[in-house]
Amino acid sequence: MRTIGVFDSGVGGVSVLKEVLREFPYDNIIYFGDSLHAPYGDREIDEIRSLCLKVSDFLVNEKKVDALVIACNTATGAAMDIMQERYSIPVVGVVENGSNEGIKITKNKMVGVIATPATIKMDIYKKSIEKKDTSIKVYSIKCPLFVGMIEKGWEDNYESNNLIQSYLNQFPEEIDTLILGCTHYPLIQKYIMRYFKGQVVDPAKETAKSLKKLIGEGKYFKTPYLKFYVSGDCKKFKKVAQEFLGQEIQEIEKIIL
Ligand code: DGL
Repeated sequence: MRTIGVFDSGVGGVSVLKEVLREFPYDNIIYFGDSLHAPYGDREIDEIRSLCLKVSDFLVNEKKVDALVIACNTATGAAMDIMQERYSIPVVGVVENGSNEGIKITKNKMVGVIATPATIKMDIYKKSIEKKDTSIKVYSIKCPLFVGMIEKGWEDNYESNNLIQSYLNQFPEEIDTLILGCTHYPLIQKYIMRYFKGQVVDPAKETAKSLKKLIGEGKYFKTPYLKFYVSGDCKKFKKVAQEFLGQEIQEIEKIIL
């Protein structure tokens, strides 16, 4: 029976996990949330890379996963190339999948990206989109406060709504497509959509589908397991993750690498 590893700096990767669960109902899944070190997006790229490799080494070498999903844009930008070279298993990230979706959806070729400071600094969405279509204009805005607030459990109040507006107000009004360039953001998509009336892209679905193209569907053998490893506060993680996944988390263990 196969095991798929999914990881993020924290709870945001459950937005990708949800789609992985949908596409791979017969496979074991291990999710690693490195919440002790979240936000990754405020760190230097070298530091992000070494944190990511610790997690991926754990999943690949110790847990022997058969495929790896980098459910984090910041980690995809900082470490996907290295991981693809380092391991002999399929490794997929979120950025290319999100870019492809954005390219497909935009009508006026004006695309906005919201992401962590590190993702914006690496400029990975702009590079990835412009590689395929130079006529698309990409506007990127960093949203440094979102991840911490989502990790804690988002509160829908005056301040948080103001914050969303203050980030989105930095875009030209004409953008018709907004890519959620951080896997934490789909957890607050409904609040973001109060202030953005165009099309919103969550790269999660395409990411899970791209893995399916690579490894195919699993075969039913016995009931698969879903196990979570979290480096920070398991209780907090569990609460936020369960709410988004809409299912109870049974197996969760704290581990610091
Ligand atoms: N969820 C991650 C991403 O997609 C990063 C969040 C963080 O800054 O830790 O970029």
